[in-house]
Amino acid sequence: MSDESRPTPAQNPVAAVIPAAGRGVRLGPGAPKALRALNGTPMLIHAVRALAASRHVSLVVVVAPPDGAAEVKSLLDAHALPDRTDFLVVPGGESRQESVRLGLDALPPQYGTVLVHDAARPLVPVDTVDAVIEAVRDGAPAVVPALPLADTVKEVEPATVAGAPEPVVATPERARLRAVQTPQGFDRETLLRAHETVTGDVTDDASMVEQLGLTVVAVPGHEEAFKVTRPLDLVLAEAVLARRRLNDGF
Ligand code: C5P
Repeated sequence: MSDESRPTPAQNPVAAVIPAAGRGVRLGPGAPKALRALNGTPMLIHAVRALAASRHVSLVVVVAPPDGAAEVKSLLDAHALPDRTDFLVVPGGESRQESVRLGLDALPPQYGTVLVHDAARPLVPVDTVDAVIEAVRDGAPAVVPALPLADTVKEVEPATVAGAPEPVVATPERARLRAVQTPQGFDRETLLRAHETVTGDVTDDASMVEQLGLTVVAVPGHEEAFKVTRPLDLVLAEAVLARRRLNDGF
């Protein structure tokens, strides 16, 4: 798109959809993952604040557990959030994909750029959010923040019994692989079309856009945008928050 025909930021406000309807079974028993506390504040509130920290984001849609929308609304009301941002809560679905679609259905028409961000990535820095937005505004239909891998990755023939040895079938070249994070950013129409067209199971939204045959671009992600999945991730997340408090103190 040429600079003249590209909408200005004011003409193309950004909405963020935060799917937060997962149970988070890998974290152990307890409340839905997004409602677990990090340093006394629910993970979801950290995630909402992380997205609302971008001055480009003017609406955050939280997709709550199907029976938890009222609880999530009260949580948002109980925590300080920026005044310049609007917040909506909608009930989610059975799969992450369905939850995202329900969030998209709630978007008012003026939002041409949409971010989808896991509640389970509560500590994403605002610079990462802004880098994704900028790449969408520069014309990419879909953008993912991504990091190079430290580990070598093997493709295996998955065992049917947990813990049984699994034959390795391939070793992709590590230098060409990236671990993909969120927020992922989209031209709204493209993401809607992807959700209408792709019905198979996916683990992220950008792969649906890939299935439309469109190019998805990766921008640098951030180590603090990791996904809180297992109990040790909670320890790491609290350590990151402690480091931020220390740094803010100087
Ligand atoms: O399960 P996974 O860690 O991939 O979930 C990623 C995000 O999707 C989490 O924020 C989770 O709350 C959300 N999710 C959802 N609805 C589901 C399943 C997961 O909103 N049915």
